[in-house]
Amino acid sequence: MTKPDIRPPICDYEGSNYRTEFWEGKGRNYEDQVERIALRRLLPKRGHRLLELGAGFGRLTSEYQMYEQVVLVDYSFSQLQYAQEKFGDSNRFIYVAADAYQLPFRAGVFDGATIIRVIHHIADVNVALRQVRRVMVPGGKLILEYANKRNIKAMYRYSRGQQSWDPNDLQPVEFVELNFDFHPIYMRQRLAGAGFTTQRSMPVSFFRVGALKNHLPSKLLAGLDGLLQLSGLHYTPSVFTLNTAVGSSPNNLNSDSLFVAPGSGDELVRDGDTLVSSRTNQRWAIRDGIYDFKAPIDE
Ligand SMILES: C[S@@+](CC[C@H](N)C(=O)[O-])C[C@H]1O[C@@H](n2cnc3c(N)ncnc32)[C@H](O)[C@@H]1O
Repeated sequence: MTKPDIRPPICDYEGSNYRTEFWEGKGRNYEDQVERIALRRLLPKRGHRLLELGAGFGRLTSEYQMYEQVVLVDYSFSQLQYAQEKFGDSNRFIYVAADAYQLPFRAGVFDGATIIRVIHHIADVNVALRQVRRVMVPGGKLILEYANKRNIKAMYRYSRGQQSWDPNDLQPVEFVELNFDFHPIYMRQRLAGAGFTTQRSMPVSFFRVGALKNHLPSKLLAGLDGLLQLSGLHYTPSVFTLNTAVGSSPNNLNSDSLFVAPGSGDELVRDGDTLVSSRTNQRWAIRDGIYDFKAPIDE
């Protein structure tokens, strides 16, 4: 009998035109620039292996050149195909279609992780953050970006009675299906519960307002934003945090085998273009250079 799938629902980007419909030519140069400024402030000088969780089409992957290897994980196979077109097949980039709630990695194989514009789609933050912690080594660095419910627009609208939910309430608000805004204290608590201590927290995207973006050069706004990121004024729609993995856990950074079966953690052996569980015989495909852990082959 197969176990019932009790994983939370996933915001599925399979086949979506996220790259062309949200980013390219869509007036979001400012957002892209300020996120890169924040990332550059928080990234380490050097690293071994980075987990880019919810990498999408690899918009930010070029920022991670200090890592020897970048493992791009996304639930959408088609987003990873875009990324693969851009970054190619080499041992430096590994593409993995998988679910954040069941990462198919051995414990302690990453010393870095980034989660940018992803956690707002995650219904069960505890499970996802624990998965990320499991696959990281103690001392590993996690850069997590989240959508902030205490942003100035939400505070203003609530004070005028134009919005029903309270930005000061600690619980996340699902403003559209599978789109959540989080309170900074809630996120810090979830990170601590998963085994991370937060070292830095930076407000980002102060000028995400159409009227300003339409009239002022994005470079100017991004420069000002870069200064304000250091202000500690956490009233922006986006917050970037730098966190360290704490507690004792395995260190497999130098292990040759990265993958285990999602969920069970069973050992896998390579058989042609598949990875096979030696215990259950379940198989996962490697399709055109992308490891596909969304479902076993025969399911
Ligand atoms: C808004 S995009 C962000 C992509 C990229 N990080 C960026 O900033 O351009 C969110 C991405 O998260 C992925 N995603 C959502 N839920 C996921 C889950 N449970 N497991 C893995 N990826 C997920 C989506 O497929 C999508 O590519």
